[in-house]
Amino acid sequence: KKIAIFASGNGSNFQALVEGIQRQKLAVQVVLLVCDQPQAHVLQRAQQLNIPIWTASIKQFTDKTAFETAILTELQQLDVGLVLLAGYMRIIGPTLLQAYPQRIINIHPALLPQFPGRHGIEDAFAAGVEQTGVTVHYVDAGIDSGPIIQQAVVPVQPQDTVASLSARIHQTEHWLYLAGLEKVLATRSLK
Ligand code: GRF
Repeated sequence: KKIAIFASGNGSNFQALVEGIQRQKLAVQVVLLVCDQPQAHVLQRAQQLNIPIWTASIKQFTDKTAFETAILTELQQLDVGLVLLAGYMRIIGPTLLQAYPQRIINIHPALLPQFPGRHGIEDAFAAGVEQTGVTVHYVDAGIDSGPIIQQAVVPVQPQDTVASLSARIHQTEHWLYLAGLEKVLATRSLK
């Protein structure tokens, strides 16, 4: 099974996925990193890990459909059957959603349906909740709204800052995304 990972930024989840898939000998192959930010740190990680890269800014295209069509062409050429979003800061449009129904997965740094959107960690911290967490879920047309695959709770400690809470959440993300992927592979027949 061939997988593409989409990322826009630091790429710690990208690296944890690639290394975890190798370490645990999962029956999948990461064949492509798709990155919409040509300066992102994740590109260096992909080079070091020998993962092929497709990167372009959406500004190089006439519109989002053209951008996604270019990505789709690449995915189809490589026979990609599953897409994992790992800090990809763009809403997936109909072009990709229709080509990969229930085959695009995202990780979100909060316990959905609580705190969707770009600032899940900060929003949970500001709300003063005693626990937050991480969610792995299928992507649909909404924002962080698709069916949930797996969640893990992360406690908020009294002395926490946004930074210390973020660090704990990211550590959780790195194993939960792998666990969610394993669950999907065990329960779905994907090409
Ligand atoms: C993660 O917190 C992920 O949940 C969110 O974006 C962040 C990406 O971090 N969607 P990284 O680039 O994987 O380090």
